[in-house]
Amino acid sequence: MGRHEILIVDDKKENVQLLQKFIEEAGHLVRTALDGETALLSVSAKPPDLILLDIRMPGIDGVEVCRRLQREERTARIPVIFISALEDTRIKMEAFQAGGVDYITKPFSHEEVIARVSTHLQLNDYRHNLERKVEESVARIRALNMELELTQSEIVVALGTLLEERCRETGYHVVRVAEYSRLLAELRGLDEETCYLIHRAAPLHDAGKVAIPDYILHKEGSLDPEEWEIMKTHAIRGYEIFRNSTRPMLKMVAVIAKEHHENWDGSGYPEGLAGEEISMAGRIVHLADVFDALGNRRCYKKAWDIEKVFRYIRENEGIMFDPVLVRLLLQNRERFLDIMERYCDDSRQNR
Ligand SMILES: [Fe+2]
Ligand SMILES: [Fe+2]
Repeated sequence: MGRHEILIVDDKKENVQLLQKFIEEAGHLVRTALDGETALLSVSAKPPDLILLDIRMPGIDGVEVCRRLQREERTARIPVIFISALEDTRIKMEAFQAGGVDYITKPFSHEEVIARVSTHLQLNDYRHNLERKVEESVARIRALNMELELTQSEIVVALGTLLEERCRETGYHVVRVAEYSRLLAELRGLDEETCYLIHRAAPLHDAGKVAIPDYILHKEGSLDPEEWEIMKTHAIRGYEIFRNSTRPMLKMVAVIAKEHHENWDGSGYPEGLAGEEISMAGRIVHLADVFDALGNRRCYKKAWDIEKVFRYIRENEGIMFDPVLVRLLLQNRERFLDIMERYCDDSRQNR
């Protein structure tokens, strides 16, 4: 540690000179001020490493100087040692309450002053180092966390995209569904953590389609009833893949996979859940998925014009979809269209 700079504040010049002499002898740099006003100016010009502060001074007294230093972020951590002839306990208390770290009573031995100054300088250096280390560690942990989260979300999107490609869905479908879902979750007022989980998990809503044979997934034209029954098992299959996970994000995937085809009126699958029996995440992704499927081109159907999509959503309020979510979508249609625009498939090569 380099040389420390110490500010001595006392309205009596001979006191200042005396203190200055033996503190300089102890190897420190010294600055001085003869009143509170000058002391504050000196500190704000350049914060010293420690302040020796007389209490009784004309104008702004020592206790007030200390209080003002405490109020400023930049100066609040400077250790202040009060020096005073006052043996008054009340004033001592006041001095500590104002933020002083120590109190030396005059007359003092110069060894005592040096010893206390060294102790507090050392403590302050430790604190600085500790804070720096904590900050560095926190930054490192944050970077690692970010790395983990990015990896996780990229893997989920990659997996979702792979699935959608196998299902011959359009390129950004899973990304758009994730974005619509997040927006719906936010508009619905869900907490930040849940919004985050829904956003991250939504791309895997069709994870169970890995279990659906190609001849069904890739069939041109409509499925016959038997094929349709097989197709519908993708919901429960997706759930089965992730249901035993202990990770909140993958648990969310399990819920969404299972419930993203449940209808508000109970006519959906796999369980025919109705209304609030369906999890909020399931209701949200259901709406987001259908909205995107209708609004964007797929191999087996042309995209509808957007008014027709909104009409369809409105007509299914309370039938397929949670009425509150439908209202939120319709009230914020511009924001949903923004997402549609931003992740438009034309910005990717079409098959
Ligand atoms: Fe699905
Ligand atoms: Fe989908």
